[in-house]
Amino acid sequence: MDYDGLAYKVEPMQASDVQEVVAIERLSFSRPWPMGAYRYEIRHNPRAHYFVVRRQEEGAAQREEPRRGLLARFRSTDQRLPIVGYGGFWCSAREVHISTIAVHPRLRRKGIGQLILIAMIEKARSSGADHMTLEVRASNLVAQSLYRKYDFQVVGRKRRYYSDSGEDAVVMAAQDIDRSPYSIHLQELRNRLIERLKRSKDDVKQGDGYEELSQKPRSGQKIGG
Ligand SMILES: CC(C)(COP(=O)(O)OP(=O)(O)OC[C@H]1O[C@@H](n2cnc3c(N)ncnc32)[C@H](O)[C@@H]1OP(=O)(O)O)[C@@H](O)C(=O)NCCC(=O)NCCS
Repeated sequence: MDYDGLAYKVEPMQASDVQEVVAIERLSFSRPWPMGAYRYEIRHNPRAHYFVVRRQEEGAAQREEPRRGLLARFRSTDQRLPIVGYGGFWCSAREVHISTIAVHPRLRRKGIGQLILIAMIEKARSSGADHMTLEVRASNLVAQSLYRKYDFQVVGRKRRYYSDSGEDAVVMAAQDIDRSPYSIHLQELRNRLIERLKRSKDDVKQGDGYEELSQKPRSGQKIGG
């Protein structure tokens, strides 16, 4: 996806992102993954692909610094804007299984969830997957609505799947993501989202809760609370 002109961009998750990711995770899930789980996924799981969405400054996409040498790398990490959401999946043969997706609670309903999902679908397609699956809490109608928009259908139910509450998981799948009807649908949704994100860029600049996130969290401190 081309992130020029957008207030947000998607990047592969790095180990240095995990602290911010886990801060959003704790605000988003009743049983959050610990930092070690994300570090393991990024460093040791060859089937895992994780992404973060972060704010980008005006024109930043065009003037990305070339990263030369260790010092340049440190500088560019320090200057990076806060993470506002993330997602990830596991890839196995032609199946991609979405393991997580979350957006900071203050920045929801602005299209960021869709931005992450599109990035994951595009990566799945370019990795040769032909279908995607996931589990979602039966009560999580918001997430189910996001997935349905991208042609995920309910294909099953796992009884008492979540051990904290005994809640069922709904299993959803998007089929034939490598085929052209899906590509056309995805492109339409992507174009619509890009237009929406461009229109809302000025609102983002004027403050949409993002300012509270611009202080990087200290160890163990949750963003925004
Ligand atoms: C699910 C989640 C990632 C969506 O992120 P988001 O940035 O708010 O989503 P978007 O703004 O891109 O919305 C995409 C679609 O999701 C659905 N949606 C999002 N928020 C909704 C709400 N409050 N009510 C109903 N539908 C909603 C809509 O279909 C929406 O499309 P629309 O804006 O065209 O109506 C976010 O709510 C979240 O982080 N939830 C907590 C973590 C979680 O439950 N993750 C899913 C685990 S399976």
